[in-house]
Amino acid sequence: MQTIFSGIQPSGTLTLGNYLGAMQQFVQLQDENNCYFCVVDQHAITVPQDPKELRHNIRSLAALYLASGIDPEKSTLFIQSEVAAHASLAWLIQTSTYVGELERMTQYKDKSAGKESVSSALFTYPALMVADILLYQTDLVPVGEDQKQHLELTRDVAQRFNNRFGDVFTVPEIRIPKVGARIMSLQDPTKKMSKSDTNERGFISLLDEPKKIEKKIKSAVTDSEGIVKYDVKNKPGVSNLLSILSVCTGETLEALEQKYEGQGYGVFKSDVATAVIDLLTPIQERYHELINSSKLDEILDQGAVKATEVANQTYLHAKNAMGLGRK
Ligand code: AMP
Ligand code: TRP
Repeated sequence: MQTIFSGIQPSGTLTLGNYLGAMQQFVQLQDENNCYFCVVDQHAITVPQDPKELRHNIRSLAALYLASGIDPEKSTLFIQSEVAAHASLAWLIQTSTYVGELERMTQYKDKSAGKESVSSALFTYPALMVADILLYQTDLVPVGEDQKQHLELTRDVAQRFNNRFGDVFTVPEIRIPKVGARIMSLQDPTKKMSKSDTNERGFISLLDEPKKIEKKIKSAVTDSEGIVKYDVKNKPGVSNLLSILSVCTGETLEALEQKYEGQGYGVFKSDVATAVIDLLTPIQERYHELINSSKLDEILDQGAVKATEVANQTYLHAKNAMGLGRK
């Protein structure tokens, strides 16, 4: 049994990319491991958020975790800001994180590019992520491809801290899915599918209605060749739809290429739409049952208690090892 930690930001409704790249792995992993899944609301505020909307998004994300199959009997589900040790350890971690390392983070470069007022929290964001992971003595972190650089930093900082102050933290491994690690925008298949995309047709939200999903997939950018083949370089749009269909149905990319040989894009696209709708319909039903229920609050209260207990132990250990306080 391994300890697993992962987090998702409550910065808008989850996309199909979040589900296929992250959430689906979480659900598979929880049967045989000690899992912590977190709504990382303190990460979301590194860019401006409307307080009312943020409140809604936090609750909505928690409900989506459960609706997607996270089982509170097996996993600990909680909200980052309800466990004080995250921000506290992040401060200690900043002292072992170099400015040069933070400057190299591509997520920081992307999110700050062309902006006039960028918060210092956006810059130090990776230190908070390092703290999230290390607090639970995590062995494995399941994430999408875009988080690889942050995970490499986490390993470096954990090792550096341990070398200076003794064996305080477990050095975690990263786990990226083979297919689905990077679902691309439907309108620009060279960009990742993102919930903050200004073009709504580029992403599928987990809560989109079936008609909307169908429309978005039918208008997905492909090419004029009419051949269903996985070739990311030359056919990024078709390859993206193939990945989506493969992870939704469990069929391999090769099997799907054969299935659609000589058929053009019409049938293919409509099958992709059906597969996505079939995947999301039960999730949406469970979501609507949960979102206004007191059960959701009970689960999150229990999660915060359990996470606090574990996190406080590591935090105290780190704080003492550094010589802070009196004992
Ligand atoms: P975020 O929405 O940025 O908080 O990401 C939450 C999780 O979803 C992380 O593990 C990301 O790597 C993953 N993720 C986000 N967008 C995608 C995407 N387009 N394809 C695959 N995984 C993604
Ligand atoms: N930075 C991650 C993202 O943008 C979210 C995140 C925060 C996270 N803390 C984490 C992911 C800890 C894994 C583990 O997607």
